[in-house]
Amino acid sequence: MKTANKVLWNESLKVGHIDLDGQHRLLIELINSFFDIVIDGTNTGPKKLEELEHYIHHHIDYEEGILSKLKYSDLTNHQMAHSELTSIVSDVTNRLLYLTNVDEQIDLINNLQNFWVTHIKTCDHLFKQNISNLNSTSTSIKNVLPKKVA
Ligand SMILES: [Fe+2]
Ligand SMILES: [Fe+2]
Repeated sequence: MKTANKVLWNESLKVGHIDLDGQHRLLIELINSFFDIVIDGTNTGPKKLEELEHYIHHHIDYEEGILSKLKYSDLTNHQMAHSELTSIVSDVTNRLLYLTNVDEQIDLINNLQNFWVTHIKTCDHLFKQNISNLNSTSTSIKNVLPKKVA
């Protein structure tokens, strides 16, 4: 079986904003959880994929709102990177729903995790300085999670 390259949250991923770091961390953990889902063969995948897309859209809207408030000069490029990110997530989620080969599923999730971590470490880290003094007043992403389906 292919290796699941789970990513552990660490200092090098932080952008220095409590909510954005919390959201990035949750998203990494959610993607990590897909490895267990495909390896265990449980049928919770579709529901989790829906949650992932929901979190990603929430995170992107929230992050772009902050960057807009900061009048971040590279906002347009960042929005383009987000657009690419959402289309990759959508492509991966569609393919994961239909793939039955575990190695192919693990490859897809590895790619998704790499893409996500790379976005944080490159694009998001570009605004680290701009954001460092901004105080957050938002609530946690947990407040916008979809209600659990029994
Ligand atoms: Fe971003
Ligand atoms: Fe981000």
